[in-house]
Amino acid sequence: MAITTCVFDAYGTLFDVAAAAREAASEPGREAFAAHWMDVANNWRLKQLQYTWLRAVADAHTDFWEVTQNGLDWALEASGLQGDAELRERLLALYWELSAYPEVPAMLAKLKAAGFNTAILSNGSPDMLNGAVQSAQVGEFLDDVLSVEDVGIFKPAASVYDLVGKRFNCAKDEVLFVSSNGWDAGCATGYGFTTAWVNRAGEPVDRLPWQPAHILSDLTTIPDLASA
Ligand code: LAC
Repeated sequence: MAITTCVFDAYGTLFDVAAAAREAASEPGREAFAAHWMDVANNWRLKQLQYTWLRAVADAHTDFWEVTQNGLDWALEASGLQGDAELRERLLALYWELSAYPEVPAMLAKLKAAGFNTAILSNGSPDMLNGAVQSAQVGEFLDDVLSVEDVGIFKPAASVYDLVGKRFNCAKDEVLFVSSNGWDAGCATGYGFTTAWVNRAGEPVDRLPWQPAHILSDLTTIPDLASA
């Protein structure tokens, strides 16, 4: 069936999650952090995601803001920076205003001009997502911002992906789901969406029972893919 609805993961897909640590590292007086910022950024993301999966499996949901703070605290301690409360506050503040990847506004504008439904489907809490959408100035190109908080469990629970069909009244095979997380794209394939994995870092494909239908290096070709 033809694609009618294009749905995007948020963090790492539309919004650059490394931007917070990168920006903080470039600020004056942060020499100690500048030496470690990449490790902190990688560990922060890794732990944040691990905590979402563990909380889903253990039936211990909390919101994404909590696991984002928990992941950062682990990452700062792993780099010996746990005593820097001001750095912690700065990194968390920057997480609310992440920049979008450069191709995002034009890509979303093309999808809207071509008549597709467009939305975010994210682990993020509604207030975090609204902050990111506003600061990246992409709200005008999105029909909706769907959060896992509506179902109280993180991806890749099927009840999260169900939010798309409920909102847009569409079949699974009308949905192009786009994520920079290989596990998210793979699991969404298993759910029944057509998927695109945005693999900016050239990582290996996740060894899961399902694979992304398409693998892209950035988001530029999404409108062509949706129209094909
Ligand atoms: C999200 C995370 C998984 O936005 O990137 O859902």
